[in-house]
Amino acid sequence: MKKIILGEPLLKLDSVDSTNNYAAALLAKGTAKDGTVILSAYQTRGKGQGSNTWISGAGENLLFSIILKPQSFPADMQFFLSMSISWGIAGFLETLVRPVQIKWPNDILINNKKVAGILIENTVSGMNLNTSVIGIGLNVNQDAFPEGITNATSLKLESDREFDLDHTLENLTGWLNTCLNSLYEEKYGVVKVNYLNRLWLLNKWANYSDAGGKFEGRITDVTDSGELMVLQRNGKIRNYGFKEITFNNML
Ligand code: BTN
Repeated sequence: MKKIILGEPLLKLDSVDSTNNYAAALLAKGTAKDGTVILSAYQTRGKGQGSNTWISGAGENLLFSIILKPQSFPADMQFFLSMSISWGIAGFLETLVRPVQIKWPNDILINNKKVAGILIENTVSGMNLNTSVIGIGLNVNQDAFPEGITNATSLKLESDREFDLDHTLENLTGWLNTCLNSLYEEKYGVVKVNYLNRLWLLNKWANYSDAGGKFEGRITDVTDSGELMVLQRNGKIRNYGFKEITFNNML
């Protein structure tokens, strides 16, 4: 598939409900170009995964969405798109601070705290992905979070310095470009290894809960469709979809 160039064009907004919604509206109008990046200094209704919201201080962080219009990307490989984006963000962050890890399916952690979230909204046509809106919220210069949000961090909190947002976006989209091109070149093994190498709690025993109650488990892998594979103490491996398993604490 043709190589992608992210950020051509780059649309910069002061405020919007959600950059993902803005991207979807451009797609609906038929005016969106493959690789378009929509950046906003502030969102009035930032969307998180599921029914969550994404709250971010004005002008402090990176809030943006990428529009992809792949020509022939198999719909059943959607999780590889998510893995390549997680890899791109984590790989970029590792150039600034460590350790960076990916919490399944695609939260990005620094020192066990969430620094970035990803919300991918795809449309499918037949067997292929038609369009993808990849929304990314990266906490950059925010140094205080609302009460009740205990597990959030930012690049500034983790490195004690301020970052230039334009420069950070440029470097981050460079990484995302490279990782997406690996995906488009069908280097699926490379994408998965880079995701798994950074997967939080991979091969570590921990306490989890599922619909059946509490148990000790060890993450061993992810399936191609994005399920988390968890080994139980009885030697059986169970696969979990999003929100079907909760991490409680380390052993
Ligand atoms: C999550 O971890 O719950 C996903 C958060 C995704 C937030 C980003 S910010 C830019 C883009 N626009 C949105 O409304 N959401 C995503």
